[in-house]
Amino acid sequence: MNLHSAQLDDLPDLLSIESASFVQPWSKTAFLYELSKTIPSLYVIRREPFTPILGYICFWVVADEIQLLNLAVHPDCRRQGLGRFLMNFLLEQAREKRELKVFLEVRSANQAAIALYNSLGFRVLYRRPGYYTPEKEDALVMEWTA
Ligand SMILES: CC(C)(COP(=O)(O)OP(=O)(O)OC[C@H]1O[C@@H](n2cnc3c(N)ncnc32)[C@H](O)[C@@H]1OP(=O)(O)O)[C@@H](O)C(=O)NCCC(=O)NCCS
Repeated sequence: MNLHSAQLDDLPDLLSIESASFVQPWSKTAFLYELSKTIPSLYVIRREPFTPILGYICFWVVADEIQLLNLAVHPDCRRQGLGRFLMNFLLEQAREKRELKVFLEVRSANQAAIALYNSLGFRVLYRRPGYYTPEKEDALVMEWTA
């Protein structure tokens, strides 16, 4: 598996997976913002160098916390361990940098993602009722501690 920080050339693949994965996908501007950062925040995964992207993860390290901002795997490549691989990369960063806490927000109906996070040791901190509009779906705020 080939994992590295995202480059501008990756943008078409990123946008394509994003729009296939979310009801309210990130815009091109949002990805360009992450790609413009000096400290990488967006990482992509491929089976081999120079092949299409299979998934990505975006997170910010802020003081003693890591905030997960985005995670997606190409719909044709799900249930093959890639989401877990990407999340384990984030958790390795948390352990290495001694960032003791990781936070994320997930739609309460997103069973696949919630099962993944639960299996990695995340727990629900609290629920934000009606957080996602216009459908008023609740958000779960989850936390992982080393
Ligand atoms: C959530 C997502 C990233 C998971 O990626 P994935 O590569 O399919 O996940 P993995 O194959 O690594 O699965 C790891 C574990 O997650 C859970 N899981 C993953 N997909 C699941 C599903 N459809 N139903 C139930 N559990 C699921 C299982 O516990 C699984 O372990 P197992 O395969 O040993 O049973 C992927 O479904 C996705 O891109 N969804 C759309 C975008 C999204 O919702 N992102 C998260 C936003 S918070």
